[in-house]
This record gives sequence, C-alpha cells and structure tokens, in this order.
Amino acid sequence: GCSGGDDAQGAAAGGGAITVGFSQVGAESEWRTANTRSVKEALAAPEFNLKFSDAQQKQENQIKALRSFIAQRVDVIAFSPVVETGWDTVLREAKAANIPVVLTDRAVNVSDDSLYATFIGSDFVEEGRRAAQWLVGDSEGKAGPVRIVELQGTVGSAPANDRMKGFKEVIDGDDRFRIVRSQSGDFTRARGKEVMEAFLKAEGRNIDVLFAHNDDMAIGAIQAIEEAGLKPGSDIRIVSIDGVRGAFEAMKAGKLNATVECNPLLGPQLADLIRDVHAGNEVPKRVTVDEGVFTQEQAEAELPNRGY
Ligand code: AHR
Repeated sequence: GCSGGDDAQGAAAGGGAITVGFSQVGAESEWRTANTRSVKEALAAPEFNLKFSDAQQKQENQIKALRSFIAQRVDVIAFSPVVETGWDTVLREAKAANIPVVLTDRAVNVSDDSLYATFIGSDFVEEGRRAAQWLVGDSEGKAGPVRIVELQGTVGSAPANDRMKGFKEVIDGDDRFRIVRSQSGDFTRARGKEVMEAFLKAEGRNIDVLFAHNDDMAIGAIQAIEEAGLKPGSDIRIVSIDGVRGAFEAMKAGKLNATVECNPLLGPQLADLIRDVHAGNEVPKRVTVDEGVFTQEQAEAELPNRGY
C-alpha cells in the first residue's frame, strides 16, 4: 500500500516485511562498529523493517529500547545484552506479548531459557583459552614468574566474564603465571590507555605480559607503554582478542604479538535466524561462529583478507 517502501517491497516478496527491533550495546570498539554495519546491511533487505537503537553501553537504555519495541509490537526483538544479568523482567514482558527474542553476540543469565528463542555468538570462554594457549607457547623455556596484567572488558558483560574464565583455566595449570593486576577498561581505547598507565605506575618495569579482553584496549595500552619508554611487543608481550584491522596493523609494526579472532560479521546469520524464528521454524538454541588465532608472523599476509 502507501504506508512505506519497506512494507510495500516486503509485501511484494510475500507476506509483509518482518519488523525487527535491534538494540545494540554501543559504539565502544572497532569490533562493535563492524558488527553494527553487518547487522544493518543484512537487515536492510526489503523483507525486513529494522528499528535500530544504540544503548551507549547502558543496560537501562537497553531495557527502555526493548520496552519501546514491545509497545510498538515489533515482530522480532534482537539484542546484544551489555551485561549478563538483570533481564528476566523485560524478557518476560516480551514473552507475554508473544514477541520472540534473538540474542546476538552476548549471552544473558536467566533462570528460564524459554525467555529467548536462540543465541548466536562467539564462544568467549574458548577465546580466553586461546589467548592463554598462545601465551603458554610464547613462554616456552622461560623461567618464571611471568607477571601478567589484565585489561578486562565491561564489568558484568559475558565477554569479560567468559574470557577471564577461559584464560585462567589454562594458566592455572602452570605456576609461573601470575596475574598481578586486573581492571576493567570498558572495551575502549581511551580507558585501556588510562588503566595501563595506572598499571605501569604501580608495577614499574615488572610487567611481562598484557592480556587485553579486546584489541581496542590493547591499542590504547600500547600508547601508554610507549609513553612510559618501553617497547610494546618485546618489553611487554601483548595478546588481545577480536582480530580487527587495527590489531593486524599493530602486529605488522611489531607492537602486538597475537590476536584471537572474534568475528563481528553476524548480520547474515542473524537475518536467517530472525526469518526462521518469525516463521515458527525450529532453530538451534545456540549458534556459534568459526574463529581462529593470528600472530605477528601472519599479519602482513592476512591483512588484505580482513573483512573488519
Ligand atoms: O561482545 C563482543 C565484545 O564487545 C568485543 O570483543 C569487544 O571489542 C566489544 O566491545
């Protein structure tokens, strides 16, 4: 009819467009920017009508966005929950309104799994393990102690909780490894730099390794390390997570040692899941993403292949 191009085209494709309310965490990292682009591109297809909302890393904003999607009676809600807990009430409201919910990227901790239809995202525990496995390999033959500082992601978020867990699981088996400082840098470059400055002030030259829960914080920390007169990548070995372009550039320059891949390009798979959930098809409760690990030696050859 005359009520908007999306609807008209969706209807032409058969059955009317699927209205999707998507609540994004924010724009805190290179990873997130790529994720937003991927989701927007995939849901720009005429069969969808996307309502996009940015929560600026605040759970209260996300809850407001979800309530507004429910009030607008969207067909499907998808969101990347900023933290793991505190979702039961609003998800019950969505369920009561018969609106299926697809979790993307980050998981929630709820008592009742029927509060969401499916979850697509990375295995963050495995990413933490992979970062530690790289460190174990890199530390072969070295005498202890290996003094590690950790830049954690957003407090209470699934990637921060899980990456910490996976990393610890692996290093706990070897008593050379010691996490001497651990603090959140909220997944941003600016905070990563600030917190690294504080670590350097407190520990002086006694830091062997930096484990950052994402590349952006590592890139911020690299600046702090250089400003302190140390060489990132050699004086302090650095491993982080995501595999964004900036990390490959830092590896090429010898300043970052390794990055564990976390693929943000979830848009196409998310679109498939939304279509299925909306059609009432059965979907797996958990969909994971294939990911690898990259080191300095591979950076130059791999850089042109990176999609984010
Ligand atoms: O949830 C995924 C994490 O969120 C990414 O690793 C990080 O860069 C982003 O901010």
